Amino acid sequence: MTKRKHQREKARLFQALTEQTQGSTDHDAPIPEQALANLPGLTAHTPSGSLPKMKKFRFQLMHEWILHRLPPGRVADVGGGKGLLAYLLQQSGWQATVIDPVAQALPDKYKDLTLNRRVKIGAAESVPHLTQPFAPAMAEQFDLLVSMHAHGCNVQLIDVAATGQQKVILLPCCIIQEPLLPAPGQHWIACLVEYALAKNLTVEPFRLNFRGQNIGLYIHTA
Ligand SMILES: C[S@@+](CC[C@H](N)C(=O)[O-])C[C@H]1O[C@@H](n2cnc3c(N)ncnc32)[C@H](O)[C@@H]1O
Repeated sequence: MTKRKHQREKARLFQALTEQTQGSTDHDAPIPEQALANLPGLTAHTPSGSLPKMKKFRFQLMHEWILHRLPPGRVADVGGGKGLLAYLLQQSGWQATVIDPVAQALPDKYKDLTLNRRVKIGAAESVPHLTQPFAPAMAEQFDLLVSMHAHGCNVQLIDVAATGQQKVILLPCCIIQEPLLPAPGQHWIACLVEYALAKNLTVEPFRLNFRGQNIGLYIHTA
């Protein structure tokens, strides 16, 4: 991408995100529809209000998105909580690891949305777990780092994408322990997009099919 084209792209993306989100003080609120209408890469324009209440299935939805977009490799689920996303990716052929300072057991079951039935996770099943806060040096051993509603990792992960070969997927929510603050009136997601574009990264926004803050950012070098 030429510098001028990059700047145009940046301005378009940034404007689309910020214009309609100004005034929101709730950084976990869904982004208004108009803010998404011009967002490159968002193909599904289903109004958020009409989406099902699938937030509890966000791991399954993210898992599906990753399977459709990327070949299996080594993935870290940063701030992965109970590790269901990492578990699902592991089941799909990925080498998955949870990075989270808090160790939690896998859930004992989850709903398979394709088969529409509950699936048990055996007590003996596990996913590798790095029980410590994320630090950029950990990224070296992975091809992909995913962060869903993780705390204090979004900016660090963008830095990783800019300096390493790793691809990054963020589903940002609130701003906790981040070294960067949005400008007044700027949405946190727009702030992250701006930060990534300033590092010459490609940002592909996408939306998962649930009601709420459902915007993900797939960030990688061009
Ligand atoms: C809101 S929970 C999200 C958990 C899960 N990804 C989800 O979507 O439900 C935030 C998680 O980030 C983890 N966390 C907090 N600080 C972290 C850090 N510095 N590095 C990695 N994970 C962190 C917390 O322990 C917690 O599991």
